[in-house]
Parts: sequence; structure tokens; C-alpha cells
Amino acid sequence: MSTVIQIKDIAEHEGQEVTLRGWVHRRTGKGRLQFILLRDGSGQAQCVAFKRELDAAQFEIARGLSQESAVVIQGEVRADERAPGFPGGYEIGIKRLELLQQAAEYPISPKEHGTEFLMNHRHLWLRSNRQWAILRIRATIIKAMRDWLDDQGFLLVDTPIISPAAGEETTTLFELDYFGESAYLAQTGQLYNEANIMAFGKVYCFGPTFRAEKSKTRRHLIEFWMLEPEIAFCSLEELMQIEEQLVVYAVEQVLTQRQQELAIIGRSLEKLEAIQAPFARITYDEAVARLQALSSECDDPALRAELSIEWGEDFGSPQETALADSFDRPVFVTHYPSAIKAFYMTPLEGRPEVCRSVDLLAPEGYGEIIGGSERIHDLALLERNIEAMGLGREAYEWYLDLRKFGSVPHAGFGIGIERTVAWICGLSHVRETIPYARLLNRKYP
Ligand code: 4AD
Ligand code: MG
Repeated sequence: MSTVIQIKDIAEHEGQEVTLRGWVHRRTGKGRLQFILLRDGSGQAQCVAFKRELDAAQFEIARGLSQESAVVIQGEVRADERAPGFPGGYEIGIKRLELLQQAAEYPISPKEHGTEFLMNHRHLWLRSNRQWAILRIRATIIKAMRDWLDDQGFLLVDTPIISPAAGEETTTLFELDYFGESAYLAQTGQLYNEANIMAFGKVYCFGPTFRAEKSKTRRHLIEFWMLEPEIAFCSLEELMQIEEQLVVYAVEQVLTQRQQELAIIGRSLEKLEAIQAPFARITYDEAVARLQALSSECDDPALRAELSIEWGEDFGSPQETALADSFDRPVFVTHYPSAIKAFYMTPLEGRPEVCRSVDLLAPEGYGEIIGGSERIHDLALLERNIEAMGLGREAYEWYLDLRKFGSVPHAGFGIGIERTVAWICGLSHVRETIPYARLLNRKYP
């Protein structure tokens, strides 16, 4: 048996006899010549079965291979510019072929399918080139962000999924029966991160988070993954620098490591190459003024209504899109009204109706990808806010402790992985950015 290789490494084996193990992505044949496009998870390569070079029984198997049949192929690697595949440019002249399983009629064919059909077959749809490319880009984005944080001295500290209290607005909590008591699926790891920085300085958590969002939009998932860094002794300005560098690094790594995948999904490189520091910073006040100006200039009454905003209101997605449209890279919006943000955000001195918060809005209509802020470190103020929001103090005693034992100014943020992947890949909906999406109307497969 020759060496088993991964297709991604095929170029290193030119002229050698190798073994490939995978699935038939496509087979096309002309009598004595059969072309098998083989996927092995790492890439795709064209394997050629020529009647004269194969045992007769094996050639018959090759000729009858259905889409997604599992096979082991042994043969010689030859350079051929025309050979399709990922990376392409090499093909295998088959010498031996072993059928592991002849696949039943595959439901996903090259013809068009509706989104619901594809989502119902997500377990199979993942094998398509486009989904393969997107999820490989997702993995690269996650790895790049984690590498960057690790290199900057952040420690990964895992936070619990089951929590006794809300971390964000109580309206989106997922309640559990915890042996007769109420518990909730984590909306965020942030509150625990705040405890962890007092032990480790700079930390991050990375995991699934849950929001019982009743909204059915292209940006909302019920279960999404969030990377949340938290930093002791950190100001809002320092926080924005960290966010900016993290995002720039992730985009840069996708551009260098995932060119093939970006080509598969047809993503414009130019748009991604523009993602360089610094990102513009505008305040909520400026953002509202911009939207009011845009709205009053609007001829279309429907669009005018969509953009119109009063100070104090949160941005809807058309408004985030309009704001981001004047920039070719993400834009920071700072100092939102305290009333529309979470209980832990630090009010601005002398102007407590706004807080030291920052959202990062992605370009091209992708909206908020990061939410963050300075955290209240004053005990009395935090106690007042917890009370005012009706949050029930007992579950937060430990969180209040952090303000009694060496409280320091600190800040942090959360970046939503799926929205970031949707933006970097240029996708119209977050459902394709996660292997198995959980949506308002979907928990299958
Ligand atoms: O702005 P959010 O709610 O912030 C927090 O949870 C903070 N505790 C994070 C922190 O400071 N450590 O959520 C942060 C990000 C959003 O900007 C968005 O990218 C993503 O998480 N996100 C969602 N992504 C998909 N579906 C949803 N339902 C999401 N809700 C938030
Ligand atoms: Mg937010």
C-alpha cells in the first residue's frame, strides 16, 4: 500500500504513487475514460480511470460510482494544468480502486435547491464546495483571533454555560429547570470574565451563547459563538485599539491563508484589503445627527421613515447600514444612551445619560459585529443599577464582591463569530456561517 496523503498536499507528491481516501464529488465518463473528482475533506483532486490501466472489475466499479460514494484510490500523481480541484493542477492516474460504500441516490444535486430544503439537509449540504469554503474561513477567523489574543498575553479562561442570572437583557433568557430551581443558558461570559481578570489580568472566553431572540432576521441566531476579551485597567480608547487590531489581523489571515476559499465563494478581495487600522470613531450623538440629515435628504418616503431617528432610540439595521455606508472599513460608534445599554456600562462623568460603550459596525450592511464598554467599578452605582433593572441582588452578590475587593477600572467586548464570518465572506444570512444553525423556526438537524 502506498502512502496515504491528503489532497491539499498533492503537489508535494508529483511523480509518486499515493493513496487517497474520500468521496466521489462528481463523476463524468466517456466509455474507456472515467473522471472522478474526489473530495477528502482537505481538498479535491481529479482521478482518472483508464480502462487499459485498471483491472476490469475495478474499472466497472469506477464506471458505476454514484455521487458521494466512499472510495480508496491508489495511483500516480501527475501535473496537469487543466486538472480541476482544490488546489487543482494535478491529477491521479488510478491504478487500484476500492469501493467502501456505493452511495444511495444523493438528494443534493448540482441543480438549484431552495434554502429550506438545503437547511433540512445541512448534514449533507456541508459537503458542497461553498459550505466547505465558508466553514474553513470560519475556522481561520477563530484561530486568528485566538492566536492574536494569546500572543498579546490574554489567558483563555472558560466561563460556564449554565448561569444563575442574566448577563444581558432578561427578555432573551433561556430558562432551565436546574433540579427544581431556575437557571439560564449563558447570554455572555462577561460577568465571569470580570472576576477572572482580577485573577489573571487579561482574559478571554470563547464559547456558545444563547439568546431567545424572537426576531427572525438575517443577523440573529438563537445559539451563536462569541469571543469575549476582558482587560483590567483598560479605557474605552484602549479597548477600541484592541478591537481594531484583532479585526484587522483576522481579515489579514483570511486573505493570506484562504485565497482559494474566497475564490470559491466569489468574495471581493478589494473590499477585504481595505480593512486597515485605524477605523473611524463617531459618537452616538454624531450618528443620530448623520441619520437625521440623511433622512431629511431622502426623496423616498419609505426610506426616509426607515432612517428617521430621535435621540435616545437604538439603531435598527437599515440605520446601521446607512451609518456604515460612508466608510470602507468598520466604524466605531461610542457613547450610546445608558437607557438602551446593559446595566454594567459606566456612565460618562457629567453626562450620565450616555455611557462609555462602543459598538463596532461592519461595512456593506452587516451592522454590529462587536459590543463592548467600560464596566462600572463603583459598588454603590452598580448596586443602584442592579436594583433599578429589577435584577434580584442575591444572584449578583459575587459580581458585587468584585467591586469590594480591589475594584479597578476595566473594559471588555464581545465579537459575534457568525456576524463576523457573514461579513468577511460577504454572505446574505448568518445561517450559512455556523455548521448547524439554531433559528427561531429551526433546530433540525
Ligand atoms: O452586544 P452584545 O449583546 O454584548 C454582550 O453580550 C457583551 N456582554 C459582550 C461583552 O462585552 N463581553 O453581543 C455581542 C455581539 C454582537 O455585537 C453580535 O456580533 C453578537 O454578539 N450577537 C449575536 N450574533 C448572532 N445572533 C444573535 N442573536 C446575537 N446577539 C449578539
Ligand atoms: Mg450589542
